Amino acid sequence: MAHPESFDLAHLGGIELFTPKFDESLHFFRDICAMREVARVGDSAYLRTWDEYQLYSLKLTASDTNGVGRTLFRTTSPDALDRRVAAIEAAGLGHGWREPEVGVGRSYEFEDPDGHLMGIYYDTELYVPDDEDRPALKNQASAYPGRGINARRLDHINYLAADVDAAGDFWQDVMHSRESERVRMDDGHFAARWFRFHQKSYDVVYSEDWTGERGRFHHFAFAPDSREDILKAADICLENGIYIEYGPYKHAINQTFFLYVWEPGGNRIEFANAQARLAAGPGLSDRAVEPGRARQGPGLGHEDRGHLPHARHAVRGEPGGDRPAGPRRALSAGSGCRSIDRHPDHRLQARQEVTRPMKNHRGEGAASVDPIGDGFHVPRRVVTGHDAQGVSVVVSDGPVPVTRALPDDGVAFHEVWATDAVPADIHAGAEDPTAGSITVPPPQHGTRIRINEFLPGHLDERGLQSPVHRTESIDYGIVLEERSH
Ligand SMILES: [Fe+2]
Repeated sequence: MAHPESFDLAHLGGIELFTPKFDESLHFFRDICAMREVARVGDSAYLRTWDEYQLYSLKLTASDTNGVGRTLFRTTSPDALDRRVAAIEAAGLGHGWREPEVGVGRSYEFEDPDGHLMGIYYDTELYVPDDEDRPALKNQASAYPGRGINARRLDHINYLAADVDAAGDFWQDVMHSRESERVRMDDGHFAARWFRFHQKSYDVVYSEDWTGERGRFHHFAFAPDSREDILKAADICLENGIYIEYGPYKHAINQTFFLYVWEPGGNRIEFANAQARLAAGPGLSDRAVEPGRARQGPGLGHEDRGHLPHARHAVRGEPGGDRPAGPRRALSAGSGCRSIDRHPDHRLQARQEVTRPMKNHRGEGAASVDPIGDGFHVPRRVVTGHDAQGVSVVVSDGPVPVTRALPDDGVAFHEVWATDAVPADIHAGAEDPTAGSITVPPPQHGTRIRINEFLPGHLDERGLQSPVHRTESIDYGIVLEERSH
């Protein structure tokens, strides 16, 4: 049920972001987004946007993976903090109090039903600008930087969740936030839910994680001043080799104008502006969740012809933004390679098979952390189908689900799709056929689409690059990309 009388939560306070490429990520946030580094503790840099009254909003931490750590939320008063802590403890999700740390006073740590690590606090350190950063206007936190994207403030965070219904119920019933929109699927479950603390259209979002993993991250968003800043942000990212995943574009949900990019560490970052829209009236949440709303698509144009979720992955591994500076490599597409299953030599010991789920803040899913290392590029795969009404939909969009790498040989196999019979199962909701272990060749009446990636510098004494093979199959080898030394 909604709690229109409760405004205990003030705003999203701070996010810890993991990056396997600390220096490059720091360059992105500090120099391209125009954030300011205010503290450095251990492997973490604390950064702020120019109009945040608190000390910082982003804690960037060097890690062996990407993803999100603890998210902090500020309450509106000490009493509000006590009320929410009591509710969290009653829900059995509390971890306990933490001592004051950089920028914030005592905080209470907890997790949501999906396992995301969070904390709430009231006491905070106000930002005091120095001579270099002093604004002309007294009601502005610091001087307008006038460089790069000029991200003004942290806006919202979007988590992936295995159970969006349960996560949303937590934010509604325990945290007393308001639901502004939701997307109901044909079977009745919710694929995405948007929550707001006050009049801003949303602060916390959950999108369904089609992999079933818990505790993963989809993106967080900065708000620049205007829609025009987002258009300019696309130019700036293009100019700086930052991978643009989507946009600039407009979501139908909450009417946000947005741009999705991948920062160099592989995390999806959004620049979003809700323009003048506010959810000002009480009861708007109730109206938004009427069943008639369920067919609302997530965006305008072609995005609106489907409905959430696009089953998007959390971003992980090597983002496309690395490509301009990445190592030289050759890619080819074909169905065959030497069957490493039949060659239990040293390469078998060295092989690394990777499935896509990302490690969460507690290290769960560590086996899925990309062990391939620098050099390989995980392809993006988009699977399309149609729903029960015959409407074309994007079934999934993200990195290929399975990769096997032979680092010693400089070779990786990225499994794109597979069929095992004729006629093949073309049902849009069918289980992902690449979920099984990679085998070569395809079975009788079956097919394989696989991208084989060969890094330079791995030729043997014969001038050949392993693996080579011979199978009773027709292989179509297509060179997708080639780079010379
Ligand atoms: Fe967003």
